Amino acid sequence: MEAVDEAAGAGPVIRRGVPAGAEDRVAQLYWEAFGRKLGPALGPPDRGRAFLAAHLHRDRAVVALDAGRVVGVAGYHLAGRALTGGDAAAVLAAYGVLRGLPRLALLSLLERRPADGQLLMDGIAVDPDWRGRGVGGRLLTEIARVAAAHDCREIRLDVVDTNPRARRLYERHGFVALSTEHTPYLRRLLGFGAVTTMRRGVGRSPGGRSGDRPECRYR
Ligand SMILES: CC(C)(COP(=O)(O)OP(=O)(O)OC[C@H]1O[C@@H](n2cnc3c(N)ncnc32)[C@H](O)[C@@H]1OP(=O)(O)O)[C@@H](O)C(=O)NCCC(=O)NCCS
Repeated sequence: MEAVDEAAGAGPVIRRGVPAGAEDRVAQLYWEAFGRKLGPALGPPDRGRAFLAAHLHRDRAVVALDAGRVVGVAGYHLAGRALTGGDAAAVLAAYGVLRGLPRLALLSLLERRPADGQLLMDGIAVDPDWRGRGVGGRLLTEIARVAAAHDCREIRLDVVDTNPRARRLYERHGFVALSTEHTPYLRRLLGFGAVTTMRRGVGRSPGGRSGDRPECRYR
């Protein structure tokens, strides 16, 4: 795990990577933020959180730590791996074949893949007690640094129509809406009726990508 942003003064420390042993806590934050959307596919909540924790890729996130406790997390998808893992076989193993197949169909509706040169955000969530204190913004700043370190051309994310607060945060951080997919048939099931894709460009980091970091490509 790389330490970064140590000089931020008061407030949580921002770091790259989920600390070993913090998988359950990250899954809890993630479920708090996205449980409405993930519930039909991975619920009930205890089971969904356990599935997320068991399949996290700890090297695909930046986190905010307050006295060692994760109070914010921003996941990303880079070079074929996202923070949230678990392939079709894992879903069928955890939920059984009969119950697992419809869950896979729902998950496929939510699945997104980055294009080459893109870092794709895989969810950002801040502990409700810490919201409105700049943690989300600091996580986004660190994500932009990660993207630059991997020579990504741009960062892409999706935001649902029921989340104007997150959208405002993204706009303040330079994200621009590209397109909106209207999904009124998902409103009752997953809680949202439209998804907007946003992007922002990434400046190259001085010196560019170092040899031991994955390239910004989908493989
Ligand atoms: C969206 C989310 C990640 C933002 O995190 P956050 O830590 O609250 O973000 P910030 O504090 O950086 O900025 C958010 C707000 O706090 C304000 N703020 C920023 N720093 C502040 C500070 N030091 N003191 C007071 N307010 C501050 C910002 O102006 C902003 O206000 P607004 O939302 O009313 O326009 C958080 O609300 C969250 O986890 N939501 C649930 C999950 C979610 O929706 N994720 C996004 C899915 S696309």
